Amino acid sequence: MSAGTAKPSILIASGPWAAAPWAETIRARDPDRPVHCWPDVSADFRPRYLLAWKPPAEAVAAARDVAVVFSLGAGVDHLVHLDLPEVPIVRIIDDDLTGRMTEWVTLQVLLHHRQQRAYDRLQAKAEWRELRQAPAGEVRVGIMGLGVLGRAAADALKHLGFAVAGWSRTPRPDAGIATFHGTDGLDAFLARTDILVCLLPLTPATEGLLDDALFRKLARDGPLGGPVLINAGRGGVQNEDDIARALTDGTLIGASLDVFCEEPLDPASPLWRLDNLVITPHVSAPSAPATLAAAIHAQIVDYEAGKPLRGVIDRTAWY
Ligand code: NDP
Ligand code: OXD
Repeated sequence: MSAGTAKPSILIASGPWAAAPWAETIRARDPDRPVHCWPDVSADFRPRYLLAWKPPAEAVAAARDVAVVFSLGAGVDHLVHLDLPEVPIVRIIDDDLTGRMTEWVTLQVLLHHRQQRAYDRLQAKAEWRELRQAPAGEVRVGIMGLGVLGRAAADALKHLGFAVAGWSRTPRPDAGIATFHGTDGLDAFLARTDILVCLLPLTPATEGLLDDALFRKLARDGPLGGPVLINAGRGGVQNEDDIARALTDGTLIGASLDVFCEEPLDPASPLWRLDNLVITPHVSAPSAPATLAAAIHAQIVDYEAGKPLRGVIDRTAWY
């Protein structure tokens, strides 16, 4: 940057998330760069970069001259349908976020495998009783989505001894586990799965995929007594009426959901009252502003030095 030339500016439009921690991190690293937080911008402000999470339409309109759009999370379903310019959309790929998701998925798999809810009920009755416990190697975990998050979860679960397989859109033979792909591979994948973990993005192809017909294709001959569903991908991938029914009639014996069609989940939703369902409020892998803002800023600096962006999504595939 020559003396007197302002560095290309950044607009942070973080929707329901506080923008200040993101802005402060970038300003501390790069004091000469204009960093503005929506809606505190002038009418003629035209940023070079948009950092966004569920941005309002007015912020999208103000970003019509940007060179790059950065999602503040790993998912981009909140961006791909917007009227953004045809520029790269970059998503978060970061060890901090990935590690958080691996923790949550491992916690939920173990919670169902080790029958924690049943022990909670026994504790409430002051009842000392041992339940039959299968070894991890007899439990078949199936991970939908073999991307950054799915692979990390698969590695951790494999390390614990679970029989792990994965399902993706395209063949992923290098995942280090048994793999299936595409619509043709789905039934065989489901038929060998006791605990189904969904780490899929929300796209036109995955919307509503987790429904009654799919639950009925899961294995019923495993050591848990029936199949379990775990979803931390996106709520739009699941049919919540079907989940409630499946958890009530035994099609599923348990579930853990971190994501919902409408968030926050309505207090009137029957899902809250199912005691074989674990609910967390979209917290499996929250974006940590200090860590992730620094990573985005490093990407901007590299981009301005002519280096390629990392984590650019395929806008035609929606992820
Ligand atoms: P990636 O893009 O790295 O991986 C996506 C995976 O999904 C890929 O393996 C891809 O297949 C597969 N996939 C996509 N569409 C289909 C399809 N139609 N059929 C089968 N497989 C499909 O994403 P990440 O792993 O980084 O993240 C996954 C999702 O997790 C995010 O999109 C987001 O929605 C969610 N998420 C949730 C968080 C939370 O707090 N609850 C936090 C962070 C992310 P292929 O390998 O062939 O491309
Ligand atoms: C994400 C999320 O996509 O937090 O990163 O949901």
